[in-house]
Amino acid sequence: TNIHLLGAPIEEGAGRRGCIMGPAAYRTAGLAEELASLGHEVADLGDAQRDEVGTLETEHSHLKLLPQVAGWVRSLHRHAYELAKQDVLPIYLGGDHALSMGTVTGHVAAAAEMGRPQFVLWLDAHSDFNVPASSPSGNIHGMPVAFACGLDGFPDMLGKPLPAQLDPQNLCLIGLRSVDGMERDLLQASGAHAYDMRAIDEHGLAKLLLPFLDRVAQANGLLHVSLDVDFIEPDIAPAVGTTVPGGATFREAHHIMEMLHDSGLVTSLDLVELNPFLDDRGRTARLMVDLTASLFGRRVLDRRTQSY
Ligand code: ARG
Ligand code: MN
Ligand code: MN
Ligand code: MN
Repeated sequence: TNIHLLGAPIEEGAGRRGCIMGPAAYRTAGLAEELASLGHEVADLGDAQRDEVGTLETEHSHLKLLPQVAGWVRSLHRHAYELAKQDVLPIYLGGDHALSMGTVTGHVAAAAEMGRPQFVLWLDAHSDFNVPASSPSGNIHGMPVAFACGLDGFPDMLGKPLPAQLDPQNLCLIGLRSVDGMERDLLQASGAHAYDMRAIDEHGLAKLLLPFLDRVAQANGLLHVSLDVDFIEPDIAPAVGTTVPGGATFREAHHIMEMLHDSGLVTSLDLVELNPFLDDRGRTARLMVDLTASLFGRRVLDRRTQSY
């Protein structure tokens, strides 16, 4: 696979600073080298830059750092749209989760032009399905999924109307354990396939994920994966500003990545919310690199050599 890495050092969408250091931490942890050692071609495009955006009109004055976030979203939307049209697999190195307002909408727009359905797998403790009116915090990183699905009430984040909406039927969220009150109603009304930690406990990851991957394959769809560090149990992934206990274990997280690899369906990836300022000797950055390696083919043994 021809992999293109693009740094997206946005931190303005999160409630605390530090995600600006995310792309540098992935590079320090050896992401490019790891992927190259698995036999992939890897190009590092460096970091994207934020557009300069003036005051935006909105009745929602609690939206934090709105012009800065909109500047990132516009820039990343253009980058993602261009990368989606090339024969490459982009990995967006975050950066807080507001970056997905740009990447997901860019990929959805390109997919619509190509006449292929775009699917999204959202691995996160949070559903990030707030609209401005439902957000208790005003932090825009809690809103990218609702924005990509075309929900009403957003200021002009893109500098143009949303070119194409993400169909909630093509969206699967796994790992949920912190959803706000009104956000929950919006999410459940949307028709998205949303699974909380209890669903993993009772059914196991494979039963949740494989039917979704089957639908992607059946539809000849494109698959964007958005991996939030807080999907993972904070004991092993402390470098994130919004930890929630009870996350995916080391083994569950790798298992998801391995199933994604086996499917051969992933066409783009966000690595988001890494806050190196909160890390413990780089262990979270290294875990994220290892998970990415599993997604791109690292394995212990070939499955076919193991009989049951
Ligand atoms: N739901 C909360 C909010 O809207 C938390 C969102 C956390 N999002 C994230 N990408 N870490 O503020
Ligand atoms: Mn998130
Ligand atoms: Mn989260
Ligand atoms: Mn359905």
